[in-house]
Amino acid sequence: MKSNIRGQSIRRIVLKCSGEALRKAPDGLSIDPATVQTFARRIKDALTTGVQIAIVIGGGNIYRGNVGHSQGIDRNTGDFMGMLATVINALALQDAFVKAGIETRVQTAIEMKEIAEPFILKRAVRHMEKGRTMIFAGGTGNPYFTTDTAAALRASEIGADALLKATKVDGVYSDDPLKNPEAVKYDKISYAKALHGHLKIMDATAFSLCRENRIPIVVFDFFQDGNIRAVMEGQPLGTLIC
Ligand code: GTP
Repeated sequence: MKSNIRGQSIRRIVLKCSGEALRKAPDGLSIDPATVQTFARRIKDALTTGVQIAIVIGGGNIYRGNVGHSQGIDRNTGDFMGMLATVINALALQDAFVKAGIETRVQTAIEMKEIAEPFILKRAVRHMEKGRTMIFAGGTGNPYFTTDTAAALRASEIGADALLKATKVDGVYSDDPLKNPEAVKYDKISYAKALHGHLKIMDATAFSLCRENRIPIVVFDFFQDGNIRAVMEGQPLGTLIC
């Protein structure tokens, strides 16, 4: 079995990446060209498994609605600003993907036809069946939802076999491994434990959607070369939530 996650065969996945994945260092450029090119190379490598990939990108490297809110910006306005930030990131990714030879289509949850296609589920699925990598931008198109929830929603809609959550750590720990040396890494945990264990992996809405639609989640270190391909080849990397 070529493409599988811990023995479960996979055909189509959603990769959720924070916008910070496009930044090189915490104080570096919001969108670092070399970092974006490396991102594209990792996706190209992962596509050799034959799995269809859809990416949901966050916008936190540019703007965070909740931070804006804490600084006095209206919550709805701040969330829309964050959604627009994800569109900027999607365009940067698309540019690097095209240059890397990856056939790509961007769809946005908020219509902005001059910039990208609007999200149309059947069209997105058709693109993927034709071997195109999708980038979904604009979150869910609504304030009060995170891009994690957007990823869980898109994964449910397109019938993804798994949601891969890219992080900078190698899985889910019982506590913050940087602060607590006793923290243990989980190889596999249930949705219930992930949801109620205050493990700060994703928000409750995102978990609920994945649980209801039986979409396993893999939390893994995307920033190690070869890791995303390895996860899709069945290697037991990261933490599986199912
Ligand atoms: P097929 O129908 O499978 O051939 O898909 P396609 O995406 O190659 O063809 P289409 O003619 O629909 O699109 C050609 C190009 O225009 C692609 O790069 C699309 O992403 C882009 N495109 C299509 N619709 C829109 C839109 O509403 N807005 C923008 N900005 N681009 C679009």
